[in-house]
Parts: sequence; C-alpha cells; structure tokens
Amino acid sequence: MKTLVVFYSLEGNTKFIAERIAKELKADLLELKTKKEFPSSGFKKYVWGGKSVVFKELPELTNQGVELDSYENIVIGTPIWAGTYAAPYNTFVKQYRFSGKKVALFACNLGGGVEKCFKMFKEALPDNEFIGEIDFVDPLKNDKEASAEKAVQWAKNLAL
Ligand SMILES: Cc1cc2nc3c(=O)[nH]c(=O)nc-3n(C[C@H](O)[C@H](O)[C@H](O)COP(=O)(O)O)c2cc1C
Repeated sequence: MKTLVVFYSLEGNTKFIAERIAKELKADLLELKTKKEFPSSGFKKYVWGGKSVVFKELPELTNQGVELDSYENIVIGTPIWAGTYAAPYNTFVKQYRFSGKKVALFACNLGGGVEKCFKMFKEALPDNEFIGEIDFVDPLKNDKEASAEKAVQWAKNLAL
C-alpha cells in the first residue's frame, strides 16, 4: 500500500512534522508550492494568507501533474489559516482526484480552528475514508522533539 504525505508550509512547522511522518511511514513526500509566494513574516503574512482564505482564492501551484493514482493512502498536512486549511489546498483539492483513498489529516496552529479545518477537508473530499487527525501547536517553537514523537506515534497507529 503506497502512501503519500502532502504538505504546505509557510514557516516550516508543517514541513517539520510532514518529514517525520513520511520517514516513519516510508512514504513519498510532496510539498505544495505556490507560484506567487505568500509573505512569511510580519503582519503581511496574516493579511495575504487571511485574504486568500476569506476570498476562497485558488493560488496557482508550481506542482504540475502530480500522480496520485498510484497511492492508496494520503496524509495531508496544513497550517491553520483563518480557521481552516491554507489557501493552496483550495487549488489542490480542486485540481486532483482523491476519491477512494484513505486520508489522514494533520494541522499546525496556534490553538484555534483545527476542528473547522478538518470538517472543511471532509466536505471538500466527500468520497474518502478519513482514518485519523491530529494537530500540533507551532512545533518548532514548542518542544520540537516531543511534537515529532507525537507525530511518529500517531503515524504508527494509522490503519493504512
Ligand atoms: C495567514 C495566517 C493565518 C493564521 N490563522 C490561524 C488561525 O486561525 N488559528 C491558529 O491557531 N493559527 C493561525 N495561524 C498560525 C499558523 O497556523 C501556525 O503558526 C502554524 O504552526 C504555521 O505552520 P507553518 O510553519 O507550517 O506555516 C495563522 C497563520 C497565518 C500565516
């Protein structure tokens, strides 16, 4: 059973967790990147990222022709933006077919919006079986290794 770990990360937290999960699962790793990069510091990052979520923008991805067909399982990781998934996922879920795959979700955040984020993924991917979800509070700043261990244990217990 092949597994793909997909992630988008503006400031490295989601990337850090995604890499640990992919290593544990011996999974392939796919980083979503946008053609026009979002600002990653200061107030600007909240303005541009927040706006893209609120207006349901479809930022263009540099990833082209991602081959999802060969994967039975997909682990999706996102930072929480304005109470839901980061805007690059608006594009990703529209552009690719996920139906029939098992999906596990993880999110990095500062303490708010995780439940809504997971609910919105489930609405956006109605033909999938969801097998797990977990969140991390800014792992790079809050006991990095404990967060990594939490991620690895979660990944180990996924029914893939
Ligand atoms: C545009 C934007 C909106 C955000 N909105 C939220 C939010 O609604 N709730 C929350 O807990 N954190 C929010 N955050 C914080 C990030 O989710 C958090 O710092 C996360 O760990 C960043 O992951 P990354 O380093 O992979 O980008 C927001 C960050 C940005 C840039």
